[in-house]
Order: sequence, then C-alpha cells, then structure tokens
Amino acid sequence: MVNEAIKTDNLQIPDYVKNTKFKKWFTKMVDLCEPDNVYWCDGSEEEWKRLCEQMVDSGTFVRLNPEKRPNSYLACSDPSDVARVEDRTFICSIRKQDAGPTNNWIDPKEMRAKLNTLFKGCMHGRTMYVVPFSMGPLGSKIAQIGIEISDSPYVAVNMKIMTRMGRKVWDVLGDEEFVPCMHTVGMPLALGQADIPWPCNPTEKYIVHFPEDREIWSYGSGYGGNALLGKKCFALRIASTMARDEGWLAEHMLILGVTDPNGKKTYVAAAFPSACGKTNFAMLIPPKEMEGYTISTIGDDIAWIKPGEDGKLYAINPEAGYFGVAPGTSYKSNPNAMESIKANTIFTNVGLTPDGDVWWEDMTDELPEELIDWQGQKWTPQIAKETGRKAAHPNARFTAPAAQCPSIDPEWENPQGVAISAFIFGGRRASNVPLVYQAVNWNYGVYLAATIGSEMTAAAFGKIGEVRRDPFAMLPFCGYHMGDYFNHWLQVGRSLPNPPRVFGVNWFRKDANGKFMWPGFGENMRVLKWIVERARGKASSVESPIGWMPRYEDIDWTGLDFSREQFQELMTVDREAWKQEILSHEELFERLYDRIPKEFVLMRELLLSSLWRSPEKWELAPER
Ligand code: OXD
Ligand code: MN
Repeated sequence: MVNEAIKTDNLQIPDYVKNTKFKKWFTKMVDLCEPDNVYWCDGSEEEWKRLCEQMVDSGTFVRLNPEKRPNSYLACSDPSDVARVEDRTFICSIRKQDAGPTNNWIDPKEMRAKLNTLFKGCMHGRTMYVVPFSMGPLGSKIAQIGIEISDSPYVAVNMKIMTRMGRKVWDVLGDEEFVPCMHTVGMPLALGQADIPWPCNPTEKYIVHFPEDREIWSYGSGYGGNALLGKKCFALRIASTMARDEGWLAEHMLILGVTDPNGKKTYVAAAFPSACGKTNFAMLIPPKEMEGYTISTIGDDIAWIKPGEDGKLYAINPEAGYFGVAPGTSYKSNPNAMESIKANTIFTNVGLTPDGDVWWEDMTDELPEELIDWQGQKWTPQIAKETGRKAAHPNARFTAPAAQCPSIDPEWENPQGVAISAFIFGGRRASNVPLVYQAVNWNYGVYLAATIGSEMTAAAFGKIGEVRRDPFAMLPFCGYHMGDYFNHWLQVGRSLPNPPRVFGVNWFRKDANGKFMWPGFGENMRVLKWIVERARGKASSVESPIGWMPRYEDIDWTGLDFSREQFQELMTVDREAWKQEILSHEELFERLYDRIPKEFVLMRELLLSSLWRSPEKWELAPER
C-alpha cells in the first residue's frame, strides 16, 4: 500500500470517551505523531476479522487454510525484530538508584527529550490505533486499565487476544486513572512511499518505562513484549512498582490448580526463567496411572497477587491469552497448548506448509517434505541438514485465546482471584540442584527464589556451570531496585499469618553421561503432588542441609519405573559443590550491596554452617 496522505476527520474523540486525562494525552499524541488517520478499536470479533483481512491485503498476514486452522493467520517479522530487546529496555525512574544496578537507566528528562524527537511525525502515512484494555477481568478489584496508542494493526489484533480489549473498557474506566502506553513501529511513510509487510526501525529501538508517572513508551519494534505493551511492560515492570507501593505482588509466574482424587483443589504459583517450560507446566497432563488427579490452568506467564482480608494471598492472571513459544510445542510436550491453537490464532515467524498450515521444529516427528520458512525461503529437511536453517525462528510465537485451552480452570476469570497455597521456583540446572526441596520458612523461601538461575552452557559434571542468576525469574521484568524487591517480598510474608509454603525444583539435572535424570513433562505431577500435600501439612519429609526433602517413599511412583538409587542420585546434595554455590551468591550480594536484606546475610551464614556439618555427599536416609 502506498501512502497517499488521505486525511480523515476521525481525529475527533468519540462521545463515549469521558476520561479527562486520556483526552489531553490523546490530543498531545496526535499533535506529536501526526498520523494520517485514527482508528478507535471496539474489540468486536467483526473488527478483529476485518483488521486481520486488511493485513492479508497489505501483505503482513497470510490467511491460513480455514480447513486446517480456521480463522488463523501467519505473520513473519523483519529479521531484525524477533525478540524482546533487553539492552534497549529502560527504567527511567527519577533517581538512578531506584532503578537499581540490574536495569538500564537514563535520566527521565533526557529520555523524554529523546522520545519527543523520535516520536515527532513518526506516524506519517499511518493509522493511529487507540486500544483500550484491561489487565485482569474487567471491573475486578485486582485489574488495571491501560490504553495503548499504536500505529500497528498487528498490535491491535494481538491485544484483542491477550487482554480484555475494546469499547467496554471506557465505561469501566470513567474518569479514573489508566496507564498510557505509547507505541510506534518507528517507520513513518513519506508521500508516495510504499509500506512493507513488517515495518519497524531496524536500527533504533527504545522500550521505556517511567515508573513514577506509570507510563510506557515504545519505539522501533513491532514484536511481542516490545510492542504488546500490556504484557511485560505493564503487567510486570510498571505493575511491580505499583505492587511495591500498594502492598501486593506482580510476578512472572504461572498459576495452576491441582485437584486430588477427593476433589480437593489447591492452587500454586510458579516462577521459572524464560525457556524453562512454564507453559508446559501450567498445562500439565498427569500420568494416566495417577488416576483422579487433574491440573487446571489459570495462567502461564504472569500473576498479580494480593493479600485478602482472610490473610491468604489471592492471585489472578492479568492476561486473556497465551503468547507462547512455538518451537518445541507438540502433542507430546503440550497437548493442551496444541488444542488451544487449533483456531482463532495468530502465528508469528513459523513455517508455512504447502497446504496452508503452520509447522515448526519438533512439532511432529515426521518432517514436512517442504515449506516456506519464516524468512520466506524454501525449506526442506535436506536444506535444513545442509545449512542448519530453521523452519521457524527459535522465538516464534502463537497468540491464542486462553479460553480455548482444554485445561482452563473454571475460576480463571474470577475477579477475586484464587488462594495460593505454595510458590514454586526453578531454573535450568544441569548439576547440583536436586529435583525438589522445601524452604524451611518464608525468609529462606525468599532467599531461595532470589538465587535461582539457569546454566547458560552445559556444566561439566560435578562443577558449577556458567549460571545466570535470575532472581524470581524477574531480572528483565522488575521495574525497580532488586534489593527493594526482595525486601518487599519479605515484608509481604511478615504481614501474613500463615504465608504459602515455598519450594525449589529442578527438572533439568543431568547424570555423568550428560543425560537428563528426570523424565519431566507429565511426570512432574509426582513432584507437584508432594508439594501440594506438604502445603496442606499432609506429606512427610526429612531435613537436608538445604531444606526439607521428600524421601523415596514420600513420592507417588505408580506407573513409573524409577528406582530408589536413581532418586538418591537426583536428590544428592554435594557438600563442596553447594558451598561453592552459596559462595557464588556473593555476586548478587555485591551487585545489590546497599539494599540487600539483612535476612539474606544471615540466611547465607546459616546455610553455609549447616553445610559445614553435613556429610560430603548428603543422601536421603533409607526407609525407616
Ligand atoms: C516471555 C518471556 O516471552 O518470558 O514470556 O520471555
Ligand atoms: Mn515470560
């Protein structure tokens, strides 16, 4: 499509928009961005379809075969715009020390001046989409409202799936506060200039948060968390600062329900760094031998958690869809995700098969004979073998409505949230960290969560690998100083009469031959069963130097051939390796030194001293 500079008069604010702050902001943004046109999203199905079809006409979308994937589309991005850009993400708090050493910071005055220059005229030749949305069920006390202004129709249709978006939001908002989310792909069109399927700015990107003003500005990218501003920018970075100020928690966590054979339901929330299988865990299907156990899904990525009047912690999933990683998702690894994406789904950067469907690495055992890869090139298994070229980009995504998930929990839209009984934290650790252990109390739980991490490279057996610490899996998502964040968690625990129990897990420990020791996936249900029973004061455990642990007989092994010896190996605590592990936390202590909680210093001493008196290889005692 060519920019013909057709100006329309719909810059006018509709009558149903009553919000004074919005009106001022909108007028200012129109003056700044100078769009050709303004489109007010109503969030209807008809609108979604129309905008999608418009993107088929403009070349951004390919309509998938309706017999294979009804009402679904594929977009392929510019190769320079395929993932979140952490090095271009900024927390512009007034004081540098409030952003902390783990965030990029630029003086807000300087940043605003920069953004004003970048955004000047940035929407020439484009339509400005006004996207009102609620994070959390509309009208819920835990929910928050944002308005995203964007020049990307791709953003508008993704926001319709990922949030409660549209006309109704204005009525709930009235004249109250909202979070302004300003977005541009950063590619204005000159008169007569043709647009391209994935406009973005290949060289300049800024993902900027002003925590005191609760405002987000994003420039230059159209992809995922950089552009769908309700997700990481709002629901984590800005919401974490709101949560700090207001006494709640905004977390990078999945939420799931475990129902036991007696129908008793327990909800847990779990944090794992990116690429540790959060979506798979949230949609887990228990092994068939564990009859009577079911898992239901509240959310797969973000949890907002507030203390209730009864002293329990209540959690909601602020999102309404899944923005999941496609490669690796299959009927083997996650049947519920595969069912969720059967229709009404947007795929980004996956392969297109000759029959108009999608494919990605590890989706099926059998490879397609040929397809068009995410970069628009012919792909065959032979080409892949010879060149290493992938059908899908490793960070390719599906955007699918949460309601389509077969395991969706009936309470997932309950505005009160669900009561959380346990928190689970885990990383990808090839060595050292046992399958599961329980923190002895809340303070140790917070310490455990603050020191999780993932090995960047496979560790040599018995040695600690290169570990990237990712406290609470929040390193890229905490909108303020990490030391203050830890203190906030400690404070939340202090204020609860009976805080949830805290557990560490590791599905990824490897043996001397580099093979995974634990089968993972559905078998994680066995660990979850112990966790839930511990949280309810039912299951036994023994004290290890690093916390409480299940014995072999405390785990349900029905239908799984897993020997006592294998379990021992999986659960071993190697004294010297653990001393190194704890000493390596020094890095975190040094980085956050002036705001590290006093409790952490004491916790670390306690852990070290309990290791000092433990045997060289601490093993679970045999059955008593
Ligand atoms: C995500 C992430 O995209 O954590 O959810 O990176
Ligand atoms: Mn995530």
